Amino acid sequence: MSQTKTIPVIAVDGPGGAGKGTVSRSVADRLGWHYLDSGALYRVAGYAVVRDGLDHASPEELGKFVSKLDIGFRTGANNTEQVLLDDVDLGGEIRTEAAGKAASAIATVPEVRKALIKLQRLFRRRPGLVADGRDMGTVLFPDASLKIYLTASATERALRRHKQLKDKGIDGSLAALLADIISRDRRDAQRVVAPLKPAFDAVCIETTGIPVEVVVRQVLVLAREVFGTAT
Ligand code: DC
Repeated sequence: MSQTKTIPVIAVDGPGGAGKGTVSRSVADRLGWHYLDSGALYRVAGYAVVRDGLDHASPEELGKFVSKLDIGFRTGANNTEQVLLDDVDLGGEIRTEAAGKAASAIATVPEVRKALIKLQRLFRRRPGLVADGRDMGTVLFPDASLKIYLTASATERALRRHKQLKDKGIDGSLAALLADIISRDRRDAQRVVAPLKPAFDAVCIETTGIPVEVVVRQVLVLAREVFGTAT
């Protein structure tokens, strides 16, 4: 067994807006483990593809382009996590609905997914990793000892996104957000490579109407059972 395979991983997958980010960050914080926001990588890649006008490039060109991107992460002021492209913090630019759509579109390209595998696996470092995405349990870390699949109804997810955006001072139409969520779900679930689906050995948690803190506790209890962690 390779050395990294012995480093514990909690894989957290599910559709957009199911609370994966909030839950995963909080679990990683409490355990003192690393956190991988794999969606941010796809968002940066989508952003760069649109910026450089490569929307219509071939899959091979896209894969090559993405494999050469200089993507990094840094912890900024107030413990905020910054996503960097060429050492520049992209700020909220990759969190917009447009960036989400661009990410979902390039995420259907197998060459792009392949180009991002190595970078994602580098996050597996001691003492452990909480990995948040769509294919963490199925493709990136199939040997993870704890796999969680978080879901929530599309309406609940649209309401959460709406509130998140509002908190950031961004106004969005709820109906448009719901339509976006439904079409993104469809695209993420129907793509040929690494489609959004629970790993066969994932614990599914339905979070509609459940406070995030309750979900975090549930995951921490599972982590204690599986890894013997203290919290
Ligand atoms: O989690 P998110 O909303 O930031 O992800 C943005 C898009 O990136 C999502 O619609 C699909 C894609 N994605 C993916 O295909 N695989 C991942 N592991 C993470 C995100």
